[in-house]
Amino acid sequence: LLFSTGLAAETYTVGTSAGFPPFEYVEDGEIVGFDIDLMEAIGEEQGFEVEFVDISFDSLIPGLNAGQFDIVAAGMTITEERAEVVDFTDPYFSANQAVLVREDSEDDLTVLYGDNKLAVQTGTTGDLWVEENLQDPEIFTGDVTHFDTFVMAVQDLVNENVDGVVLDTPVAQRYAEENPVEMVAEIITGEEYGLAVADGNTELLEKLNEGLEQVRESGRMDELLDKHF
Ligand code: ARG
Repeated sequence: LLFSTGLAAETYTVGTSAGFPPFEYVEDGEIVGFDIDLMEAIGEEQGFEVEFVDISFDSLIPGLNAGQFDIVAAGMTITEERAEVVDFTDPYFSANQAVLVREDSEDDLTVLYGDNKLAVQTGTTGDLWVEENLQDPEIFTGDVTHFDTFVMAVQDLVNENVDGVVLDTPVAQRYAEENPVEMVAEIITGEEYGLAVADGNTELLEKLNEGLEQVRESGRMDELLDKHF
């Protein structure tokens, strides 16, 4: 080439928290999943590249606001509290909470009563649900272990260190397919996932919303849903 425009595509850094299959998880040392493909598809539509940073879920919002990355794509539920400190795109996925127990256990919903051990991922809506709903000592007298990842929480369930894990339905389903655990209850919380940018980053928010729209209209969203679910 004698000349080129010389303009390299912009690269945005995306914070995620792998261990949330099929949205983001590590396979053969690489972060893969629906959110990863979705961000890449949006980048292709909007002319930017993406690179991913994998950290604990509860560090994502502080990291975003500290400028450690530009976008959060982590199956993150749009909540009022979070929307006070970051800006969310239009929703791209709906979910509820679910309860996982060991396949061979006698527990079902009963795991939420009495003296049981529950596990959650720190800072998730599952963590909040347990905190808000299992307060009454006449009903739940057990304890709650907080993990950095659901991989560890489910591992502890399999190893019989805890009796139940509370987490998002699509992820509970995936763990149940791949581990000796089963989903015994769905808690209808009506959550919607959004991508997040730092509070007031309207320019990037608009790119993401436009990109989401394009990914939907081109049929690519359906392809990604088919691929991962
Ligand atoms: N949807 C839940 C929340 O926003 C859980 C998200 C967990 N995501 C993850 N990548 N580990 O709190």
